[in-house]
Amino acid sequence: MKRYHPILVVIHWVMLVLIVMAWTSGQFVLEHTPNSDPGKIDALRMHMIVGLIAGALLILRLITKLRSEQPPHAKTGSALFDKAGVWAPWAFYVVILLIVASGMGTAVFAGLIEIVFQGSGAPLPANFDDVPPLGAHEFVAAILFLLVIGHVAAALYHQYWLKDGLFSRM
Ligand code: HEM
Ligand code: HEM
Repeated sequence: MKRYHPILVVIHWVMLVLIVMAWTSGQFVLEHTPNSDPGKIDALRMHMIVGLIAGALLILRLITKLRSEQPPHAKTGSALFDKAGVWAPWAFYVVILLIVASGMGTAVFAGLIEIVFQGSGAPLPANFDDVPPLGAHEFVAAILFLLVIGHVAAALYHQYWLKDGLFSRM
């Protein structure tokens, strides 16, 4: 068993693109666009669709992971890093699940399903200040960012320092 299942490989790289799109559109566009802006509904729609596709792929990925054989955990020579390598994948699954769930919670709470997807014509609420799930969404987005930074650093460490060819597994 030298590689991850091909479905896991494809989803890994597609989800990378989707998560970068959702994260940057949330952090750099939505957060700085007032709800009174005429373009806000379109921006929300794009963000929500990308996030929901990532959520669907996460479930497909989880099922595939549980049903396929995984390559053995890579060794680094450090007990701490080896442990991190065992837990990090599961941390990603939990955090991405939480970010999609809190995003959906925000959308339901603020009535966005009708406004954004069903074209109800109703205006957006003046702001999302009193939408509790959004606080969780923002917090989890920050955790996800830190996880990705750590993950990329670990991947580069394996590839260029340990030179153990880890990229070829994914
Ligand atoms: C990979 C999944 C996702 C990521 C990485 C992500 C990331 C973000 C980020 C970084 C923000 C800005 C938070 C801030 O104000 O500081 C945000 C806002 C938001 N997200 Fe997501 N999100 C995801 C999925 C979703 C989903 C599935 C939904 C709903 C179906 C959603 C709905 C929202 C809403 C309504 C806002 C608030 C926009 C505003 O403040 O104007 N997100 N998201
Ligand atoms: C949003 C960004 C990313 C997420 C959420 C993510 C998530 C994951 C997860 C969960 C795994 C474990 C396999 C599994 O359980 O499916 C994994 C493996 C891997 N990722 Fe990422 N990843 C991201 C970005 C990246 C980037 C940018 C790189 C390259 C620089 C990378 C390189 C790798 C490699 C080489 C593996 C295989 C590790 C091994 O063989 O054990 N990932 N990733």
